[in-house]
Amino acid sequence: MPSPFVNAATSFDAANGPLVKTQFRRAGLRSDHARCIPTQWRNDVNKSIRRIAGMLMATAVLGSSAVLCADTHEPVPFPVDYRSWPVVRSIVVLPASQFFDKRGGIHHYYANQLAMQGYQTGRFPTGSIIVDEAVITHKGEGPAQGILLEDATRFLEVMQKSSDRDPDTGGWRYQRFEASDRVGQLTQADQAHCSGCHRNAQDHDHVFSRLRTQ
Ligand code: HEC
Repeated sequence: MPSPFVNAATSFDAANGPLVKTQFRRAGLRSDHARCIPTQWRNDVNKSIRRIAGMLMATAVLGSSAVLCADTHEPVPFPVDYRSWPVVRSIVVLPASQFFDKRGGIHHYYANQLAMQGYQTGRFPTGSIIVDEAVITHKGEGPAQGILLEDATRFLEVMQKSSDRDPDTGGWRYQRFEASDRVGQLTQADQAHCSGCHRNAQDHDHVFSRLRTQ
């Protein structure tokens, strides 16, 4: 029995995404970058700063440390154990939705423990990860007639909070994993497209969904 949800293309269209921001906001990043430098290097840096004792040098060292900070620039990894995390909520994208072609099916939102704190407080700590898992569906037959059943994973969309305080992204980095892929394929422009829309939820730290009411 063909599923009403299996027929859509899965490609992600970021054609209209805003331009990628490559500049850093120095004021917001200074302390974070200091935290991202490996301890040994930080000690070395501190020593040379003490030796030279010049504000100019300190500024130059901190300014160049962006390249050392893996936290904010490495691609978001596949969230291996997301299925063991709490499900914040589920939605179903039906054929009547304008998003059906690209997003049709059941979506489960999973949150790791840090992200659960964020859902409770409205401020998501560094390390928070939220996964939007889309699954295709099929119609049950025989005794399962009238029941819509889950099928394979269609894609995962992931947002992960880094220590980057860029107000454009809120520190969130975005990734998408097609079907059973373990390596995300989003370009920087794609990610800017994600964060450009999620900025509309900046009153809730760029996260649209809320915890279910108890
Ligand atoms: C046009 C706006 C828009 C774009 C572009 C967009 N999202 Fe979302 N996203 C939403 C909305 C709205 C929700 C909440 C839907 C709901 O549950 O009602 C959401 C939910 C999510 C969630 C669950 C957490 C939350 O905010 O509720 C994740 C994770 C997510 N999106 C990741 C991504 C990724 C990754 C991309 C880029 C590939 C992306 N989104 C692009 C609008 C957008």
